[in-house]
Amino acid sequence: MSTEPYLDADPSAQTGAATPTNARKVFIKTYGCQMNVYDSDRMSDALSRDGYVATETMQDADLVLINTCHIREKAAEKVYSQLGRLREMKKARAAEGREFMIGVTGCVAQAEGEEILRRAPAVDVVIGPQTYHRLPEALKRAKAGERVVDTEYALEDKFSHLPRAEEARTRSRGVTAFLTVQEGCDKFCTFCVVPYTRGSEVSRPLAQVMEEARNLVSAGVRELTLLGQNVNAWHGKDEAGRELTLGDLLYRLAEIPGLARLRYTTSHPRDMDERLIAAHRDLRLLMPYLHLPVQSGSDRILKAMNRRHTAEDYVALIRRIRAARPDIALSGDFIVGFPGETEEDFEDTLRLIQEVGYAQAFSFKYSIRPGTPGAELEDQVDEDVKSARLERLQALLLRQQQAFNESRIGMEFDILLEKPGRLEGQLIGRSPWLQSVNVTGRADEIGSLVRVRIESTGANSLFGTRI
Ligand code: SAH
Ligand code: SF4
Ligand code: F3S
Repeated sequence: MSTEPYLDADPSAQTGAATPTNARKVFIKTYGCQMNVYDSDRMSDALSRDGYVATETMQDADLVLINTCHIREKAAEKVYSQLGRLREMKKARAAEGREFMIGVTGCVAQAEGEEILRRAPAVDVVIGPQTYHRLPEALKRAKAGERVVDTEYALEDKFSHLPRAEEARTRSRGVTAFLTVQEGCDKFCTFCVVPYTRGSEVSRPLAQVMEEARNLVSAGVRELTLLGQNVNAWHGKDEAGRELTLGDLLYRLAEIPGLARLRYTTSHPRDMDERLIAAHRDLRLLMPYLHLPVQSGSDRILKAMNRRHTAEDYVALIRRIRAARPDIALSGDFIVGFPGETEEDFEDTLRLIQEVGYAQAFSFKYSIRPGTPGAELEDQVDEDVKSARLERLQALLLRQQQAFNESRIGMEFDILLEKPGRLEGQLIGRSPWLQSVNVTGRADEIGSLVRVRIESTGANSLFGTRI
């Protein structure tokens, strides 16, 4: 119901580090999905090699990067209003004789390329998600007076060009970290821009993933979330050349000493194989929480969306996953008002939600994306119909979320302590099901797993006592 994991509206998602006074400073503003958060960190790493330090205040920055999202119209348009404000800042800086550079990265950069330079004259560089390892070089060219657009699908492997995690180890890292293992999408759902902005499915090799994971864990990370647009399409080869899938990768990662928790996102129902379901059954480290978007509960709409499964396939899959891991909680994504969606189709979606029971969900009004097959369809749904359906859908999902949170009252489980709470002497940890849990604790306990009993629930979090 919120759009939280897709950071459309997040005011302050950027990377941070200590700041020597004379160094050049970069401010990165991140929109979109977790992969953009990961990418922003990697860009920050690449720039730190070039003498930049990250700053948390845009006003301080010599370089501002907007890492953009193209998934819905609103997300994409936000970029241009942001760039309008940056243009004013650049003028003010020029009057002081100070350098100020602006870069647009991410999925809008990939989709619009040159068009950004035309619409936003203050922009110096436009870099796509596949070329951000070339950012330092692009900035040098921009300093020499060129306006750079680099949105090629690079032939070289960007991951092997980025600073290795051990170089970044001195940078402060939290208790949890994202790790991209797969990128791109070959599914071509008819509403979606991702196959065009992120390119086709690519998996990072086993050895590279294992190395980055070990480095993160030795830098103090306790929980890893593996990322991919279709993370469960990950595949690789072991040392003997045997084919591996995401389930195999999870078994291997679970062996890393010091790692406490594993998660992965986002999955496609068609790529949930037996090995992955077995991993949910066998691995204590793999958290019982699965984000498995279905988008619609109507077979007609699923077909028009090119999801290539039925509502019953999805429900049957959930049954198998729950049989393997009974305490697993589900989260999902839903789109209302896809072209041709009738009241009946919409009610099929409500029925599917009733049947599955979600702990958490994200739901959106269908947004026409130029260049996708959905944009060509004639029977677009009226905006007010979409709004009314979204409201009904979100009311149901909110009730399910509250019921799920309340069902934790009286339960005992481990939480991973992540950060200080709002009050002195309090900490915030995460439940296995991604809920924030408030408990008492000391700052030096951050990073440890502690056992709690849940006493009550608040609007967005749980309250526990330690046992
Ligand atoms: N790869 C993931 C989703 C990535 S996009 C998957 O297949 O599930 C994240 C979510 O944004 C999607 O699940 C979908 O619910 C939503 N979304 C994508 N395109 C959209 C559009 N054109 N309009 C509205 N919502 C959209
Ligand atoms: Fe988009 Fe579909 Fe690919 Fe997900 S699976 S990224 S929704 S095209
Ligand atoms: Fe947005 Fe690109 Fe992620 S379009 S959701 S930032 S893959």
